[in-house]
Amino acid sequence: MLFLLLPLLTALFPGGDSEGGFEEPVSYHLIQISSFYNHSWKHLGSGWLGKLETHRWNSSSGTIIFLYPWSRGNFSNNELMDLEKFFHTYFINHQGFYISQLMFKDSFDLQVALGCELHSGKAFVGFLQIAIQGFEFMSFQNETFLPSPKGGEKAQKACLLLNLSPAFKHTIHRLISDICPRFTLGLLDAGKTYLQRQVKPEAWLTSGPNPGSGHLLLVCHVSGFYPKPVWVMWMRGEQEQQGTQRGDILPNADGTWYLRATLDVAAGEAAGLACRVKHSSLGGQDLILHWGAPHRSLGLILLAVIVALALLTGLGFWLRKHWTYYEAPGRAFLLK
Ligand SMILES: *[C@@H]1O[C@H](CO)[C@@H](O)[C@H](O)[C@H]1NC(C)=O
Ligand SMILES: *[C@@H]1O[C@H](CO)[C@@H](O)[C@H](O)[C@H]1NC(C)=O
Ligand SMILES: *[C@@H]1O[C@H](CO)[C@@H](O)[C@H](O)[C@H]1NC(C)=O
Ligand SMILES: *[C@@H]1O[C@H](CO)[C@@H](O)[C@H](O)[C@H]1NC(C)=O
Repeated sequence: MLFLLLPLLTALFPGGDSEGGFEEPVSYHLIQISSFYNHSWKHLGSGWLGKLETHRWNSSSGTIIFLYPWSRGNFSNNELMDLEKFFHTYFINHQGFYISQLMFKDSFDLQVALGCELHSGKAFVGFLQIAIQGFEFMSFQNETFLPSPKGGEKAQKACLLLNLSPAFKHTIHRLISDICPRFTLGLLDAGKTYLQRQVKPEAWLTSGPNPGSGHLLLVCHVSGFYPKPVWVMWMRGEQEQQGTQRGDILPNADGTWYLRATLDVAAGEAAGLACRVKHSSLGGQDLILHWGAPHRSLGLILLAVIVALALLTGLGFWLRKHWTYYEAPGRAFLLK
């Protein structure tokens, strides 16, 4: 019986190992979105390892929220507390700066991106960019604040004032050129089990909204996979269907990804089509779902029935060996 079950199990639960790597260029950056409205400020702050949010700023307590157990990287509590203090005073100081020094009035939005990115796998390059009302305002290069052309006179004045403080410039430089690269490397190391995990996709088929008379829209949903790179195609045998339309790869709430691939076909031509999924977690055993084929849960039901039959057969043999039948008219007793 086990010989029968093994191939079935491997068909239902394909496995395999494969090497995982980082999918995005290595970078870490902080994003600040502040809005001044009705005489008061609202701040949102977050920290991103590539496209993964790893930190948030709690502006009511002035503290860092660590979104993962490994979000502290390899920094000590003291070093993290120093950073918290720095950002806390920064948030307080810069609030007045735009209003009193630059005479921004009424309501306005401010965005800051600050961080470091690994260039050509060798050296980290730090960056700081500030935008106001969605337009580039100023940046930081070579330890100097530089106004953006679109920032006008206000940007020039802001840079003039900020460049007067060597201490502030030095701190920003240290933040993006020393602290950020060290923190990023420590974070990548601390989080590597999570970042290099392989999560297998689930796939299912549905028909989409009717695309027109006599046509079918076949939809192949692929969900819950990690990392992001994935290959999904509608196939007829080994023939890739060029009409396959891929949607955008969308994030699931748990950090995995979702993608759908659709194919518009004449109703009579749907039979024989299959959706094929390749993903690093599948170890070369592609997921193939045939249009109109029984659902995977049928396979599970079949498995349950086979197991139940096997148990019953075993029980039957055991009973035959250990018990004898005494049959009375209309009733059967089991006797030892
Ligand atoms: C503006 O803020 C004041 C208090 O600071 C509040 O009473 C008022 O309702 C606010 N107005 C709007 C439009 O939010
Ligand atoms: C932010 O800080 C406040 C005040 O200390 C606290 O009550 C709140 O739970 C914190 N929020 C988060 C998401 O940690
Ligand atoms: C920064 O300084 C380097 C040399 O120190 C120079 O080659 C480069 O052009 C400068 N970049 C900017 C944007 O000023
Ligand atoms: C953290 O790890 C990075 C990279 O391995 C290293 O350069 C750094 O010295 C470590 N410790 C701290 C406190 O940054």
